[in-house]
Amino acid sequence: MKALRSQQWFGKKGKDGFIYRAWMKNQGIPDDEFRGKPVIGICNTWSELTPCNGHFRELAESVKRGVFEAGGYPVEFPVMSLGETLIKPTAMLYRNLMSMDVEESIRANPIDGVVLLVGCDKTTPASVMGACSVDLPTIAVSGGPMLTGHYRGKPIATSDVWRMSEAVRSGKMEEEELRSVEACMCRSDGHCAVMGTASTMACMVESLGLTLPENAAIPAADSRRKVLAQLSGRRIVEMVKEDLTPAKILTREAFENSIILNAAIGGSTNFVLHLLAIAGRVGVELNLDDFDDLGSKIPLLVNLQPSGKYFMEDFYYAGGLPVVVKALAEKLHQNVITVNGNSLVENAKTSSCYNEDVIRTPANPFQEASGITVVRGNLCENGAIIKPSAATPELMQHKGKAVVFENIEEYHEKINDPELEVDASCILVLKNVGPKGYPGMPEVGNMAIPKKLLAEGVTDMVRISDGRMSGTAFGTVFLHVSPEAAAGGTLALVENGDEIEVDVANKRLHLFVSDEELERRKASWQAPDLGYDRGYVQLYIKHVEQAEKGVDLDFLKGKSTSVVLRDSH
Ligand code: FES
Repeated sequence: MKALRSQQWFGKKGKDGFIYRAWMKNQGIPDDEFRGKPVIGICNTWSELTPCNGHFRELAESVKRGVFEAGGYPVEFPVMSLGETLIKPTAMLYRNLMSMDVEESIRANPIDGVVLLVGCDKTTPASVMGACSVDLPTIAVSGGPMLTGHYRGKPIATSDVWRMSEAVRSGKMEEEELRSVEACMCRSDGHCAVMGTASTMACMVESLGLTLPENAAIPAADSRRKVLAQLSGRRIVEMVKEDLTPAKILTREAFENSIILNAAIGGSTNFVLHLLAIAGRVGVELNLDDFDDLGSKIPLLVNLQPSGKYFMEDFYYAGGLPVVVKALAEKLHQNVITVNGNSLVENAKTSSCYNEDVIRTPANPFQEASGITVVRGNLCENGAIIKPSAATPELMQHKGKAVVFENIEEYHEKINDPELEVDASCILVLKNVGPKGYPGMPEVGNMAIPKKLLAEGVTDMVRISDGRMSGTAFGTVFLHVSPEAAAGGTLALVENGDEIEVDVANKRLHLFVSDEELERRKASWQAPDLGYDRGYVQLYIKHVEQAEKGVDLDFLKGKSTSVVLRDSH
């Protein structure tokens, strides 16, 4: 076994060793805990302000039990936590900051291996990005989805928030009734119960090989979630002995497998940004076209909301992600290892599907095509994306007049205005909600349908923005337009009444305005003044990269190590 990194602290003689050990001993730790045992950091994203991760202190106890059983010594530590529902202006603004916290907390401390406790949307990519940048043996344990909500005899989960709030806006539901749904929807520990971003991220870490099999779908309230945490605690100790680091797991092939599986499960569009950012940290070449090339021909096998009917709980009872892996085994790279030393396909060999309506077969898919389609054109030279499985087929080839909102404030002010000049054939365009422009790229791309059209029964329209969309949302929504408006992209130059054509089959997004006219408009364009002149946010605005690169900070890219360069002791 490689010399333990933690012994650079706890194995020292003299004053330094005394200081490293003595202050730990105030927590009641006997001396033999410091004698050559792998020290396992449990990087805990628990916070009462991140309700989806509210059960993580208990989960950490299960991890600890496993670490002790395997002869390691667990140390739990807190990091920044990002609760999707409460953080303003948007949790995405802080993903990179959180990843820096994770990275520096791991590197700076006497840790040999790490267990990442992750759940709500951004807590997963942020933790993985940070841990990968240090590259100590790492295993992720997701917190698991909530149990399916139930309201008046009907199963419900987060995607119903969008449906019900539209029902209130169109007068089909009372605000009071909406309020009574709240407790029915969020009735147990865990993250959103549909294939939203959190579930997508839980599948992503499993498909990348960073978790034990079945991590993605076990409900938070199911006792088997704790079993998985305990087994992960045991396994990380072995991984330290084997020096099985993320760099050995996260190969280009592992990323390709993850893209294929994300298409088959109908994962969130946010997957694109987070996977690109992780690849950037480990130095794997990955670009936007990889998502289209690898994912767009994969059938959608999983019939879960928001694209389908069922919930994460059903996904687990049907067999979970291993069933999807087994079904697509021929399309997956076989030679990639996961945290347990086996390949993804080997791990899935014994899996069985227990509900073929929830997890379909490639011969009888839920939808023929899935994944993420990348579109290009003069409106998005560096690309934009759409999730076809969540869109209306008839609107995926469409020409219409732009109804433009210069920023989110103008959108809020006008969207319900009866005087707004809009009909169902128009294309809603929202600017300045990109990585720099908002800043933080909020999930507002699935703009609400104008109230007067809702009243006419319109349920979907083409919408285009440089922002993101919640993984729980749906609609014919073009997202992540790059370059974004605030960076001077063509999106900034769109005016009310301009004609736009969207053509998903031909991967095209075109603005019918001449180059000369665009040049003229560009000459009078000015970047918005966001008024941030200090702290993390100004650093973020200065260094954040565009959507097609994963929205990471430019100075965080590339490989790093666990080496601490200076030692004051
Ligand atoms: Fe945390 Fe949906 S709000 S996962």
